[in-house]
Amino acid sequence: MLLPFFNSILIISTGLAVLSVPISTVESTIQVWPKPRTFSWPQPQATLLSPTFTISTPNQIHLHLSSAIKRYLNLIQTEHHIPLVPPTLNFTTSTPPLQTLLVSVSDLTAPLHHNVNESYTLTIPTWGPANLTAETVWGAMRGLETFSQLVWGDPLRVAVGLFIWDAPLFAHRGVLLDTSRNYYPVEDILRTIGAISVNKMNVFHWHITDSHSFPLLVPSEPDLAAKGSYGPDMLYTPYDVNRIVQFGLEHGVRVVPEIDTPAHTGSWAEAYPDIITCANMFWWPAGSKWEDRLASEPGTGQLNPLNPKTYEVLKRVINDVATLFPEPFYHAGADEIIPGCWKADPAIQSFLSNGGTLSQLLEIFVNSTFPYIVSLNRTVVYWEDVILDANNKVSTTALPPEHTILQTWNNGHNNTKKIVSSGYRAIVSSADFYYLDCGHGGFVGNDSQYDNQTSGTSGNGGSWCAPFKTWQTIYDYDITYGLSKEEANLVLGGEVALWSEQADPTVLDARIWPRASAMAETLWSGNRDETGKKRYAEATDRLNEWRYRMVRRGIGAEPIQPLWCIRNPGMCNTVQSAA
Ligand SMILES: *[C@@H]1O[C@H](CO)[C@@H](O)[C@H](O)[C@H]1NC(C)=O
Ligand SMILES: *[C@@H]1O[C@H](CO)[C@@H](O)[C@H](O)[C@H]1NC(C)=O
Ligand SMILES: *[C@@H]1O[C@H](CO)[C@@H](O)[C@H](O)[C@H]1NC(C)=O
Ligand SMILES: *[C@@H]1O[C@H](CO)[C@@H](O)[C@H](O)[C@H]1NC(C)=O
Ligand SMILES: *[C@@H]1O[C@H](CO)[C@@H](O)[C@H](O)[C@H]1NC(C)=O
Ligand SMILES: *[C@@H]1O[C@H](CO)[C@@H](O)[C@H](O)[C@H]1NC(C)=O
Ligand SMILES: *[C@@H]1O[C@H](CO)[C@@H](O)[C@H](O)[C@H]1NC(C)=O
Ligand SMILES: *[C@@H]1O[C@H](CO)[C@@H](O)[C@H](O)[C@H]1NC(C)=O
Repeated sequence: MLLPFFNSILIISTGLAVLSVPISTVESTIQVWPKPRTFSWPQPQATLLSPTFTISTPNQIHLHLSSAIKRYLNLIQTEHHIPLVPPTLNFTTSTPPLQTLLVSVSDLTAPLHHNVNESYTLTIPTWGPANLTAETVWGAMRGLETFSQLVWGDPLRVAVGLFIWDAPLFAHRGVLLDTSRNYYPVEDILRTIGAISVNKMNVFHWHITDSHSFPLLVPSEPDLAAKGSYGPDMLYTPYDVNRIVQFGLEHGVRVVPEIDTPAHTGSWAEAYPDIITCANMFWWPAGSKWEDRLASEPGTGQLNPLNPKTYEVLKRVINDVATLFPEPFYHAGADEIIPGCWKADPAIQSFLSNGGTLSQLLEIFVNSTFPYIVSLNRTVVYWEDVILDANNKVSTTALPPEHTILQTWNNGHNNTKKIVSSGYRAIVSSADFYYLDCGHGGFVGNDSQYDNQTSGTSGNGGSWCAPFKTWQTIYDYDITYGLSKEEANLVLGGEVALWSEQADPTVLDARIWPRASAMAETLWSGNRDETGKKRYAEATDRLNEWRYRMVRRGIGAEPIQPLWCIRNPGMCNTVQSAA
C-alpha cells in the first residue's frame, strides 16, 4: 500500500527529525479542541486502530448515549483526518492495535439541564482497552468527542499512553442564532447544533421570532406564523421543532427558545394588528431626532402592554413554547424597548400624560407575564435592558433572582458587574467581544455617509458594533474580569451571537466558525497556560488544525491564516518563538 508522504514520516521512530522537535510542538501535532483541562501524555506514542475497533458500554441501553456511540464509531471509522503538520510522535508496531473503547456512565438518569456534570476521564493505555468514564451521558459525549480527535490517518492511528481528566470551567456555553431577520432551513440548524456539540458547547440559543418574521408555527396561535412568516416554506412546524430538540439531546446541546417581547414584535401585527403599537411605520420619521425613532432598526412594532388581548395571545404562545421545548430556561427577550413606538399609541399617550411612566408600562407587562412563565416551571432569561435600560426598566422586586437570569450585551464587563452585583446570575454576550455579525457594514439603504470620498471609515466599517470581532478578541475575553469571587460565581457562562440582518444559510458556517470555537475553548478550559499567561500563540496552531478538521466534517469554517503559515509553524507570528 502506498502511503502519502507524511504518513511515512510517522513510521520513523527515532532519528534527528524526531529528537530535534521541542515537546510543545510534539504536543501540538495531535490536537484536541477545546484543550482538555489536564492531558498527561509522558511519551507521545501512537498505534493502529483495529479495523474491527468497537465502542462498548456495560451500561443499560440509553437512547441518547447509544446514538452518540453509534455516531462516533461511524465518524472515527470514516473521517481519516490528515493532520496539517505531520505528527512526529513515535508510531509503535510493537503494541497491538487498539480494539475497544469502554464507556462507563455512573448516572444514566441526569437530564441535560444547566449545570449537569460534564466531566469525564479518558485513559488510552499502550496495551488493552481504552477507558472512558463519566458521571453522566452528557460527559460521556464530551469524552467521545475527545477520543475522536485523537484518531487520524489512513490506516487509522490513535494516540496511546495518555490520561485525560476534563470538565468545563463554565456550565453555560452557547451560540445564539437569529432566525427571524433571515430564515434558516432545519438542516442548517441541525448542522449548527452538531458543530456546537463537537466544540463541547452545550446551548443553542434560538432567537426564533423578531419584528421581521414570525417563523414558529404555534399550534394554538397558527395565524402568527401563517401571516407573520416569510412564507409557508419558511417556518418551523412542531415536527421541525421536535427534530431540532431531539437532535440537541443526541448531541448534548440544550435548545433554549427565545420569544422576544414586548419589543421586536412587529411581525405579530400581521395576525394581530390591534395588539401591536407603531406597526409597519417608517422606523425613523423624516427630520426627527434619533431619540424619537420608532425602532432600533427598520422593522417597527411593540406589544401593547395596556391591551388585555396582548396577554391572551402571548400566554397561549408562551404555553405552547413551553410544551414544544422541554428546556427549563425560557428566554423572554425584553431588549431595546423604544419609547417612540409606545408613544405612538393613543391609550399609552393618555397613560403617560396621566403621570404614568415608560418603566411602569414595562413593569405592567413583566408582572403580567413573568409569573405565568415561572408557573410553567421555567427560569426566565431576559436581556439586561429589563433592569439596566435608561428609559424602560423594572424594579428588581418584580424579578426575583431565583427565577431570573440576565444576559448582558452592552458596555463589556461593566454591565456584567452591574448584573451580578444586583444578585442576578449572568450570561455574557458582550457585543464588544461576542457579536459575530459586527463589522460587516450597515444594512440600511440610502446612507449619506458614503457621499464622502475623504474617509476610509465611512460607516465605521459599517455596523453599529464594528469592527469585526476576530477570533483572538473572542478567545482573550475574560468574562469574569473585575468581579469578586462571589460575583464571578454568578456568571453562568457565555454565548456568541449571530444576528441575521446580513446572514443566511449561504454564509452561516463561516460567520460562526471557527470564531465560536475560540469562545468554546476559553469557557471550557480557559485562555491561559499553566503559568497564567495567555496562550493565544499556541492556540493559533491548534485552532488552525481544528478548523481544517471541522471543514472535513462538513462545517464550512473560514480560514484563519494562509496554509503556508500552518505548514511553517511559528513563521507567521509577530514575535519569533523564544524556544
Ligand atoms: C521515541 O522513542 C525513542 C526510543 O524509545 C525515544 O528516545 C524518543 O524520546 C521517543 N520520542 C518521543 C517523541 O516520544
Ligand atoms: C474502566 O473504568 C472503570 C470505572 O472507573 C473501572 O471500573 C474499570 O476497571 C476500568 N477498566 C479498565 C480496563 O481499566
Ligand atoms: C462530576 O462527577 C465527577 C465524577 O463523579 C466528580 O468527581 C465531580 O466532583 C463532579 N463535579 C461536580 C461539579 O459535581
Ligand atoms: C421543574 O423543573 C425542574 C428542572 O428545572 C424539574 O427537576 C422538576 O421536576 C420540575 N417540576 C415540575 C413540577 O414539573
Ligand atoms: C409588579 O410586581 C412587583 C412584585 O410583586 C410589585 O412590587 C410591583 O408593584 C408591581 N408593579 C406594577 C406596576 O404593578
Ligand atoms: C466601563 O466603565 C469604566 C469606568 O466608568 C469606563 O472607563 C469604561 O469606558 C467602561 N467600559 C465600557 C466598555 O463601557
Ligand atoms: C435618499 O435620501 C435623500 C435625503 O438624503 C432623499 O431626499 C431621497 O428621497 C432618498 N432616496 C430614496 C430612493 O429613498
Ligand atoms: C464629510 O467629511 C467632512 C470632512 O471630514 C465632514 O465635515 C462632513 O461632515 C462629512 N459629511 C458626511 C455626510 O459625513
